[in-house]
Amino acid sequence: MEQSIESYIKNLVRDVIGQNLGGLELQCDRQTYVIANWKMNKDLNETAEFFQKINSSHDVSVVICPPTQLLYPTQLFIKQSGKPIGLGGQNVHWADKGAYTGETSGSMLTDVGCEYVIIGHSERRQYSFEDDELVNKKVQQALKSGLTPIICIGETLGQKSAMQTEQVLYKQIIGALKDIDTAHFILAYEPVWAIGTGQSATAELAQETHAYIRSILRQLMGQKAEGISILYGGSANERNAAEYSAMPDIDGVLVGGASLNAHVFDVIINAFAKGEQNS
Ligand code: PGA
Repeated sequence: MEQSIESYIKNLVRDVIGQNLGGLELQCDRQTYVIANWKMNKDLNETAEFFQKINSSHDVSVVICPPTQLLYPTQLFIKQSGKPIGLGGQNVHWADKGAYTGETSGSMLTDVGCEYVIIGHSERRQYSFEDDELVNKKVQQALKSGLTPIICIGETLGQKSAMQTEQVLYKQIIGALKDIDTAHFILAYEPVWAIGTGQSATAELAQETHAYIRSILRQLMGQKAEGISILYGGSANERNAAEYSAMPDIDGVLVGGASLNAHVFDVIINAFAKGEQNS
């Protein structure tokens, strides 16, 4: 797809620049993403209807992550629509292949047209007991398969109240990126207390946290950190998207509930498209 070649080249340039000019200060052009995480929602008809209604935009990278059984038809709907929309999985197994009932491998995802995969979502960390070590194995597998991992991190309400946010995020980032020497990934800061609750983080709090996350990335990979997109997720919607898009370290959003309605999702996409044009 047109967009994937563009993002591949951008990532490549970003990596080469990061390696050659490691110590120098330079401003990198980060990609802006608006990503839909449909979770366990939508059937085939609803998906077809969504692609009839969605407008999308050439100014931001729009990615849809439907449930696994809808990946292939979604790829076809995207092609038919002719719109610049990417496709992502919601999960990947760490192994290449084998006796893992119900799981999906990296090559199965790319086979049906995926370029992205969500890894370490707090819902999976909770009900599938995914820890940082497993998240790291999945990130390795995604990269090996040619997928861009969308790595989710975030603190629970209890951890926030105990003022442990920075500690928690630090541990999750270090854990997820162990032995990873590329910048071909996206980070999504998703405070667990904000997911599906309507209690979104204020744009100021999200910006402050994203700046902290970028400072950790700088420690880990130097200048390459400037090119990594950090998305906000957690009750992001058509009403607060513009506020997030105005923040310098918020490079897009990972949207759950508000991504299910094409018109609502379009408003969010437009908020970031305008943000890009203004910057
Ligand atoms: P939400 O979900 O937008 O419904 O809060 C976001 C996510 O879980 O990725």
